[in-house]
Amino acid sequence: MVTVNKNYLKLQGSYLFSTIAKKVAAYQEANPETKIIRLGIGDVTQPLAPAIITSLHNAVDEMAHAETFRGYAPDLGYEFLRNAIAKNDYQDRGCQIDADEIFVSDGAKSDSGNIQEIFGLDNKVAVCDPVYPVYVDTNVMAGRTGEYNPVRGNFDDVIYMPCTEENGFLPELPEEIPDLIYLCFPNNPSGAAITKEGLQEWVDYANKTGAVIIYDAAYEAYIREENVPHTIYECEGARTCAIELRSFSKNAGFTGVRLGFTVVPKELERDGVKLHSLWARRHGTKFNGAPYIVQKAGEAVYSPEGKAQLKEQINYYMRNAQVIYEGLKNAGYSVSGGVNAPYIWLKTPDQMTSWEFFDYLLEKAHVVGTPGSGFGAHGEGFFRLTAFGTYENTKEAIERIAKM
Ligand SMILES: Cc1ncc(COP(=O)(O)O)c(C=O)c1O
Repeated sequence: MVTVNKNYLKLQGSYLFSTIAKKVAAYQEANPETKIIRLGIGDVTQPLAPAIITSLHNAVDEMAHAETFRGYAPDLGYEFLRNAIAKNDYQDRGCQIDADEIFVSDGAKSDSGNIQEIFGLDNKVAVCDPVYPVYVDTNVMAGRTGEYNPVRGNFDDVIYMPCTEENGFLPELPEEIPDLIYLCFPNNPSGAAITKEGLQEWVDYANKTGAVIIYDAAYEAYIREENVPHTIYECEGARTCAIELRSFSKNAGFTGVRLGFTVVPKELERDGVKLHSLWARRHGTKFNGAPYIVQKAGEAVYSPEGKAQLKEQINYYMRNAQVIYEGLKNAGYSVSGGVNAPYIWLKTPDQMTSWEFFDYLLEKAHVVGTPGSGFGAHGEGFFRLTAFGTYENTKEAIERIAKM
């Protein structure tokens, strides 16, 4: 008799964004004339930069000729891209990461979901609360957690690290020692950023306790402040305790193109095994390489023209972030994030729950955001707005909210 993976049955409800989509669709149907502005989902709106488009076109043309046609890509990524990443994202920042420690993939969602496979099921996982849901759900699917506790609103046998107004939305070192620690900075959903000294404490803690940090730096391109690290490898000792995940989605608009990478330093060993060799084996067996065309597009991200164009793109989104942050603050809201991240995290007014505020905002301002409670129990009473809309819509949305 066929049985199923019962761990999947522990997962909760429908995915946050499908619930939002259903509510918005119902509202639009009932109010067909209303212009709804979406500042909810974390998808970008600006087109790919010209340097990337040129590189894509050239790569497509190469595919049309026998001499330049490419079939399967190397499992771990083309040298040209891995070299560009190693140089620009690491060596130029003074971090010692080599091209052969970089594994190119189709994005950080897959990598952040798949990385847990190389660890034993008896490992204890620590996550921030609120959190990007993929880290938790993939550990639930694997059977590394207990059941869902409806009273607490989270899973048994997971260490949740509350990120609250009191601690500036930054997790504190947990008392119970975890094996795997997921950290994401700049943070989705709160937009909080960690200083280099703050991150160094985590690296020291992991090296002392033997934990492994899985560091998601998908939003590093939005960092504005000097003392905020762009990579965990800026911290001393990170090579012996940290894996880093990166994405081309938010720094270069690849949400629909798909490209990312994971860094596993060769020194990183646990249980007598190099994690680099396990991830190489996993990647080689289950992944057949990101498309050549897409990797060529990724290479253009590091060209001088690509860098200049993407800087402008990020500035465009960060201007939106400033409009949201300042507009809400002036309207009397308590806001954070938005300085080193494209996310603004606001406290719901008048003790409203996150979903009550969602409905209120949709009804009164016709603006869609994301309820903080969808990211974890400690997200209750908070709300996320994103800077990924157009400038015009963002401005209009904030004007409407200010008038509510
Ligand atoms: C923290 C975080 N990690 C990873 C991802 C997914 O990135 P990708 O598009 O590369 O799969 C997202 C997307 O929203 C994210 O917020």
